[in-house]
Formats: sequence, C-alpha cells, structure tokens
Amino acid sequence: MLSIKRLTKQFEVPGGSIRAVRDLDLTVEEGSFFVLLGPSGCGKSTLLRCVAGLEQPEEGEIRLGERLVYSARDNVSVDPEDREVAMVFQTYAVWPHMTVFENVAFPLTEAKKKRFPSAQVAAKVKEALVLVRLSGFERHSAATLSGGQQQRVALARALIREPKLLLMDEPLSNLDAKLREEMRDEIKELTRSLGVTTLHVTHDQIEAMALADLMAVMYDGKILEIGQPEALYRNPGNRSVAEFLGRTNWLSGVVAGNGTVTTEMGLVKCPLPNRAGPGSRASLGIRPEWVELTAEPCQSANSFAGTIEGRMFLGDAVLYWVRVGESRMMVKTTLTEFSIGSRVSVVVPAERWVVFSETA
Ligand SMILES: Nc1ncnc2c1ncn2[C@@H]1O[C@H](COP(=O)(O)OP(=O)(O)OP(=O)(O)O)[C@@H](O)[C@H]1O
Ligand SMILES: [Mg+2]
Repeated sequence: MLSIKRLTKQFEVPGGSIRAVRDLDLTVEEGSFFVLLGPSGCGKSTLLRCVAGLEQPEEGEIRLGERLVYSARDNVSVDPEDREVAMVFQTYAVWPHMTVFENVAFPLTEAKKKRFPSAQVAAKVKEALVLVRLSGFERHSAATLSGGQQQRVALARALIREPKLLLMDEPLSNLDAKLREEMRDEIKELTRSLGVTTLHVTHDQIEAMALADLMAVMYDGKILEIGQPEALYRNPGNRSVAEFLGRTNWLSGVVAGNGTVTTEMGLVKCPLPNRAGPGSRASLGIRPEWVELTAEPCQSANSFAGTIEGRMFLGDAVLYWVRVGESRMMVKTTLTEFSIGSRVSVVVPAERWVVFSETA
C-alpha cells in the first residue's frame, strides 16, 4: 500500500542543515498496522508529513498503492488532499469554535472536488461517531470535550475520508496513562475491523509493541531494524534496538570458548554471535523479567549468589536491584518475599541472553 524509496528530507537551519530523513526505505503492506518507534527528534513526524504531502522531500519516491505521489526524479508531487491519506495529529487539531458534527464533517464539506449531499454527510458523520463511541455528541461544542473525546473526534474526522492510508502521529501521547491504554486498545480494534492500512508513530515502546503487526525502530533519520514486535524484543539486531524496546541489564565480557563468556559476574553460558572467537569482547544483555530469583542456593549453570540492594513495588510486579559480585542487576518478578539484605540466587537462562560483539 505504501512504498517509500530512498527518501531524504532536510531542513535549512541557521548555520547549516538538518537531514531529518536520510535515504530511507519503507514498505507497508495493505491492511497492516505498521508502527515507527524512535526517540524525539529522529524524524518520525517529518516522515509522516512527507507521506501526507505536507513536506516536500529532496530525494526519493513515495507510492501509495500503484500510484506515484512523489518522485524527485520525475518531478511528481501530488497535492495532500489528492493523496487519499488522512492524518491524526498529537495535538488533535480539532477546531474549538465548531461542533463535533462540523469537525467530523469537515473533510466532506470542505473538500474542493468532492461535494456530498447533506443527507449523505449526516449519515457518514453518524457512522464515524459510532465507530469512535461518540454518538449523541453531534451538537456539542468541540471546546467542551475532554482530551480523550477530542482525540476521538480527530480520529472520526480522519476515518470519514475513507483513506487508503491512515497516518497517526503520536495520537495518544497527550492522554493520561489509563485513557491512553484504553484508546490504544480501541484503535487496534477499530483499525483491524475496518481493515485500514495504518502507519502509526510513537516514542512509547509498549504502545508500539501493543499495536504493531510490524514495527520499525528509527534513529537519526534512518531505520535501524524492522520486524514483528516479539521477534525484535526477544532478538534485537543490535544494542540500540534492544535499548529502545525496554530496559536491559548489560554486562561486558571476554569470550572464553565453549559458549561461555567471562564477565564481572562470573562465567556466563550464552549464545555467541557469529565469528566471536575466544578472546574477543562481547556485550551481554538480559531483560529484568527474564532473570529468576530463588531464596535457595542454586547449583545450575548461570546461577549466581547475590544480595538484594533495592526493592520497588509496582503493583503487578516487583523490581529488585541485586548485587552480584561487581555488577548490579535489575530483576522484575511477581515474587514479593525478598527484602533489602536478603541473600538470593540469580538464575539467568542461557538462551535468554542477547549477545553482541563489541568492536574495540
Ligand atoms: N520545519 C522545520 N525546520 C527546521 N527543522 C525542522 C523542522 N521540522 C523538523 N525539524 C528538525 O528535524 C528533525 C526531526 O524532527 P521531527 O519533528 O520529524 O522529529 P520526531 O521524531 O517527530 O520528534 P518528536 O518525537 O519529538 O515529535 C529535528 O531535528 C527537528 O528539529
Ligand atoms: Mg513528532
């Protein structure tokens, strides 16, 4: 549905230029939910705006379905309103002086080329408001709505255009935590039931993993890695991707051969990267929830004696900081019985480690 090739967008700023999107390739399959995850300033909004036609790139091409909507080489740039995409913004961009009805109807009543009879507009608005669970709010002033309701209006306004591609730029980040989760689940449900192809941008890794069929981790104008959420989480291709997707305990060590690495914690058995021969340096990462704690001394491989140094109760889990020799591990578990000073065994299953070669 969406194919982006070698896209580059730069901005002229005092003292030089910023390449916000660098030679970027991306494909989004029809009907799928694709999420771009990356830190602030990495170029996510710029990329979406290029797809929507709100920014003019310098290089590359963009296709929507079979249709070329932007090409630097062929000097093609289709107007935003003719691209059959709709965008939802972080700031909602709902017009406060209009009613809910007028806001949602706006793309139909203002579109230059498409004129719909008013009965049809009313029917479509009604349908869109059912989808976002705002039936009955037609005549409310948009200014009186809560943040979550405004975001629903923005979503209804995007869906009413029946876009080929729905672009969402951090639509949930201004909502409080509970509402954000609810809206997240609703968006997933809604886009799945409508079958609309969606490109969603966020800097929240949980939101990204919850929503995505496929996700890309973006950094500094480029895509670091693309994959299914679980695959990227379990088996990231590099340390940056691992870190974007969640907290990780890192150890540094020297490959000792036989599938082991000598670390400050002791000898760790783990999968080794290709070409990591004895003597080479490696980074070992383990997520807090993959570390097991026991009160009993444990003789199995990859178990280490430790002492609890910190404890934080999170409701559905407890975070512990455990001292093991020279290193400190964060452990996330549902076990609540350990307190500061408790002696424990820390067990880290060999297959759970992610290991990368360290270049000198
Ligand atoms: N109109 C502009 N003029 C100059 N620089 C810009 C402009 N728009 C974006 N930039 C720069 O381009 C880079 C990418 O910005 P962009 O807004 O795409 O980031 P982002 O990933 O959406 O960040 P955030 O998560 O904070 O929204 C930033 O360095 C930003 O300062
Ligand atoms: Mg942005």
